[in-house]
Amino acid sequence: KNPPRPALLSSDEGSFAYTSAAYRWPVIITKIIDDVYKTRHLLPILKNENDNNHSKRMEIEEKNREGKEIMDSIAGLKYQMQRGKKLIPIEDDGESDIDNWNYVFHKYFERENWYSAAWLFTECYLYRRIRSIFAKTKHWHDYDPFFRQKSESFKASINSVIEISKRIDQLIITATTATMATSTSTLLDQQRIIFHELVLISLWGNATDLSLLPNLNHEDIKKLQNTGDKLLKESEKNILANDLDKVWNVISKYRKTRIDFILDNAGFELFGDLILADWLIQTEYASEIHFHVKSIPWFVSDTTIFDFNWLLKTLNDISDNNSDNINDNNSDKNIKNIKNIKIDNISDANSIKKLINRWQIYIKKNQWIIETHHFWTSPYSYWHMSEQAPDLYLNLSKSSLIIYKGDLNYRKLVYDCKWSITNTSFKEAIGPLASEKDSSPPLLALRTCKAEVLVGIDESRIPSFDDEKDWMYSGKYAVIQFHHHH
Ligand code: F6P
Ligand code: MG
Repeated sequence: KNPPRPALLSSDEGSFAYTSAAYRWPVIITKIIDDVYKTRHLLPILKNENDNNHSKRMEIEEKNREGKEIMDSIAGLKYQMQRGKKLIPIEDDGESDIDNWNYVFHKYFERENWYSAAWLFTECYLYRRIRSIFAKTKHWHDYDPFFRQKSESFKASINSVIEISKRIDQLIITATTATMATSTSTLLDQQRIIFHELVLISLWGNATDLSLLPNLNHEDIKKLQNTGDKLLKESEKNILANDLDKVWNVISKYRKTRIDFILDNAGFELFGDLILADWLIQTEYASEIHFHVKSIPWFVSDTTIFDFNWLLKTLNDISDNNSDNINDNNSDKNIKNIKNIKIDNISDANSIKKLINRWQIYIKKNQWIIETHHFWTSPYSYWHMSEQAPDLYLNLSKSSLIIYKGDLNYRKLVYDCKWSITNTSFKEAIGPLASEKDSSPPLLALRTCKAEVLVGIDESRIPSFDDEKDWMYSGKYAVIQFHHHH
């Protein structure tokens, strides 16, 4: 299956793909060099040179030396990328997906350079090359060069996290307690409203993307994450295609079913996804939620298993009001950058505590399951899922609803190519994932628009080009698009 239309290319000057390659990637790569530099300079220097710590000292020196080599390799990668050099195979780094990657590389891209190859490929390839540099080392093998950024931005969003935690208590009580006086239809109506609100929180959490907003300050993040009711209502204006009512019609008939989240970014976005997942369990629409995370650091802010567990642990620690416990060691005891989160207000701490206790139980009882698969960090569009990752495809076919979060997932769903925005339906754009014959599960995309690919939009909803030149990739607009077999 080939892209049904021309792919988005970084060689299209003036496109966002071009801006990404020319301006965003160099910043992202430079930040990795800074991050490794910081970590190296935090390595403990052992003062007493007795026999006991000799080997420890050697290890630290070796780690430091490897750190320098990493910085050099990353700088080399930046050089190749910025000068638009020819793409090269990924060196064998011992990872199990390497053959797959190089198969795609040789088959389609070995004659291409960083600008001429499909943008979707080069962008994934960039993160896979970065992974390779760390994977080849001994002491930095599991190091995530984006972890520091991810944890710092979560720290900046802690007020919104508290706000939402306080509200969720109320919402869950309303959603689950059908008193004698509440008629079924009233309860259902309340649930519909709450479901809308929670989906919006999960959706707009995607606007806080570190790869897109490298210079965002803490105030900006807070603004983005402001979840006051009014703001959420306002935000619906910016949803250019909104299938939420259709989704609700389907979900409201579910009882104790399985729902899957193909997660995107860690931190605040993940928190919003977990809030929605929590509610789905509490209301018993779902009895089992599968979360799909990335197996390597990916597109700066994407959730890894480490990030997932770190969020739970951090929430647990801050709700104990004991910030000194916070452990964000990234397999490295030397990063302590979230230490200063402190919640002084006891009732704030309690509402987080309630959440986190429940979440930990879900995990213990396998009601929440965290999964990972190399396919999510492959260069393939999801059009290829059934032939490239048949095991994953089969696994997902057992779900009753698959929620794809974020921009990159959307790009992969619709094959990242130049569709007509108004004359292509979402169904057409997701190709084989909508095929009638295997009746694949209902599919929901929650995406804020951060790339120039979009389908299924009514002409009347397109923002006026005069005031919003960058509407397609500013992250200010979003789509909620749903496909299911009738
Ligand atoms: O288009 C901007 C961009 O950084 C893309 O590189 C990528 O598709 C996306 O945003 C990442 O965003 P998200 O985290 O929503 O997938
Ligand atoms: Mg992402």
